Amino acid sequence: MKNAGMKGFALSDMSLPVKALFTGYLLAVGLGLCMAGVQIMLTHGMADGKVGLSVDDIVYSYYGDRSGSTLESKLNGSMQNNAPPEVRLEMIKWVRAGAPENEWESTIKPHVVKYCGVCHENIPGLANISKKEVMYTMTKVSEGASVSTLTRVSHIHLFGISFIFFMVGWIFSYADGFSPIVKAFLIFTPFGFLILDIVSWWLTKMNPNFAWLVIIGGFGYSLASTVMIFTSLYQLWFKNRRTQID
Ligand code: HEC
Repeated sequence: MKNAGMKGFALSDMSLPVKALFTGYLLAVGLGLCMAGVQIMLTHGMADGKVGLSVDDIVYSYYGDRSGSTLESKLNGSMQNNAPPEVRLEMIKWVRAGAPENEWESTIKPHVVKYCGVCHENIPGLANISKKEVMYTMTKVSEGASVSTLTRVSHIHLFGISFIFFMVGWIFSYADGFSPIVKAFLIFTPFGFLILDIVSWWLTKMNPNFAWLVIIGGFGYSLASTVMIFTSLYQLWFKNRRTQID
């Protein structure tokens, strides 16, 4: 089979020093990819409070939990029994309406002082929600990753990871036994998925339905680079030389 990389060279034909160089690089990059996977599981994987990466995690990380404010989720959760239903409802309506300030003093604050103050004004360490500025921090909705974070992480990923793919793809271009079109496809795929991955972060920030694209993008480039890394390592060491050059 004719080598589709640089004519006359194949991984199995490389001299020992070049093999050592390529092998060291591929091993380090392969380990780096595994670590990146673990890190994703530990950060994004836990975003929805459950172990393992899911579409919900991606939505929570990039889009946020916009189903409600801290106040509303508490009033539907652990604070449920601390106020009569009609008071709870009034508070929930207020926060859903964007917590209008003119209703704070007249309606909401008296409720809070009456029903919530017993604990929240008196127990040290508990948010004193009778104070306006404290309560307003509870009315905020989680909006996921900020635009500045996304911009920063996007460009770091694009520059850093494409450099890795460039080296891996370049080494793999010397592999034997692939038709040029298959080889070109494998070499291009990680770049394509990388771009898809980054674009889908931004899309997910705007619309949670794009979360599955993030997973496909990340999975796609991990798979393509794994194929290239393993093939290259195999051909460097276990494939018979085609020619004898040292
Ligand atoms: C019996 C005491 C008690 C009463 C009454 C009470 N709370 Fe709480 N509240 C707590 C405790 C304890 C926590 C912390 C544990 C938790 O989050 O469930 C808390 C937490 C909260 C939080 C989250 C605070 C944070 O820092 O994230 C909100 C919001 C909240 N309460 C709202 C209310 C509202 C509104 C009322 C009145 C309708 C109320 N609470 C009445 C004891 C109380």
